[in-house]
Amino acid sequence: MNVFEFSIIITLQNNIFSGLFVGQNLLTLKEVDSTNNFLKNLLSNSKPLPEGTVIMAEEQFAGRGQQNNQWYSESGKNLTFSLLLNPSFLAITEQFDLNRVVSLGVFDALQPLLGDQLKIKWPNDIYYADKKLGGILIENLLQGAQIKNSVIGIGLNVNQENFPDGAGNATSVWQILQKNYDLLALLADICSHIEAWYLNLKAGKVDFIRNSYLKRLYWLNERGDFKADGIIFTGIIKNVKSNGLLVMHRDNEEVTYNLKEIEFLNK
Ligand code: BTN
Repeated sequence: MNVFEFSIIITLQNNIFSGLFVGQNLLTLKEVDSTNNFLKNLLSNSKPLPEGTVIMAEEQFAGRGQQNNQWYSESGKNLTFSLLLNPSFLAITEQFDLNRVVSLGVFDALQPLLGDQLKIKWPNDIYYADKKLGGILIENLLQGAQIKNSVIGIGLNVNQENFPDGAGNATSVWQILQKNYDLLALLADICSHIEAWYLNLKAGKVDFIRNSYLKRLYWLNERGDFKADGIIFTGIIKNVKSNGLLVMHRDNEEVTYNLKEIEFLNK
């Protein structure tokens, strides 16, 4: 299928992007099913794309979230984009470090605006107080034991004022600050922060990355209610293992969970 059949391309633009490569090749679409799908189609249908290519959409009609959830976003109000990285230097067993650096990049772009209530909720949600501001969906395309391409989808609620009842505990920058923000300027800022963290990863600074991620973690060392195996319990998040598993104190024991095994029960 020709990926251009179902999209209208508005503009190619890169002048406010200050980094070396992330966002330098920017494609803005009026409407698409999902920017992650679009980028994956481009990768399989055309000649190689430059690392750092960003596909941004004003509207997604089939936006995807983690665990087969849908991602809803009001047209033209928010950031919905996908970014291409090629972390072939990263062992598959260490791929959670990519989740860390992307979360840190989004976090650091927002922190000057939003302050101390901003957190990273494991594994890679962006939270403000107890509400979800953004999410990240990373789809790695492997070649042998290497990550050939990583399609990093980011959805961030920026100027949306209201959310439908089914949207769970969503919030937006507008709901927090009652101000509208320039989406392209925010995208440029996020891209430059992701690039900086990604270059730290490439330079092997994994301890720094893991500690920085942990410092920003939602509910770290706090008592919280969780659900696993159909049982509700109170636990304390203690750590995140190098491979991304969540380490928790539960009933005086240390227990680890992967994403599908545990649910946070919000306050
Ligand atoms: C989540 O929290 O469940 C992850 C949400 C990821 C949403 C973004 S929006 C841009 C990109 N395209 C998609 O279809 N999904 C991601």
